[in-house]
Amino acid sequence: MNDRSANTALAQLRKAALSCTACPLWENATQTVFGEGDADAKAMLVGEQPGDQEDVSGRPFVGPAGRLLDRALVAAGVERSEVYVTNAVKHFKWEWQGKRRLHKKPTQREVSICCQQWLEREIHLIQPRVIVCLGATAAGALLGRGFRITTQRGRLLESTLAKYVFATVHPSYLLRLPDETQRAAAFASFVEDLRLIRRGIADEAAPV
Ligand code: URA
Repeated sequence: MNDRSANTALAQLRKAALSCTACPLWENATQTVFGEGDADAKAMLVGEQPGDQEDVSGRPFVGPAGRLLDRALVAAGVERSEVYVTNAVKHFKWEWQGKRRLHKKPTQREVSICCQQWLEREIHLIQPRVIVCLGATAAGALLGRGFRITTQRGRLLESTLAKYVFATVHPSYLLRLPDETQRAAAFASFVEDLRLIRRGIADEAAPV
């Protein structure tokens, strides 16, 4: 498939996902938040689910976690415009806490039975060379539920999904760290993991 037809197919997929009602999450969400980026992107980043700001804007990773991700990508020498960014779950799952819409973790069923079809189709169309799972939900969806970020992060893995697949922490984990020193160290490790994107795009890395 050439780039133009891949982009057309991706636009059709996005359109189809807008009316997805495969699970009840769509009922409380403002809209489907589909992936964003070019069909010929060499790397795909997969998060968990859209947050409050993503739900309102309709774009992935535009809130606080997205801004942190952007900073980390720049520090790792990667432009956001050269990667495709998406989520394992395409609707914001939340509950009221006072006046705030608080993120609620998606269930296994919502991730794998309902939303996985969209993610698999995005991967199939884009065929990225590198896939990065941001956090445990994305890693569980693509690498299996036995995958542990704590012990396996930052390691390139053999996979049928793409030549290079690895997982790292979710940027919102860094936002939750209470202490500035911890946050700075965690940011540096996150950037170190994201540098694998550049190596994977250049085909310079070896799966372990
Ligand atoms: N967290 C995610 O996992 N994805 C987003 O798009 C925003 C926050």
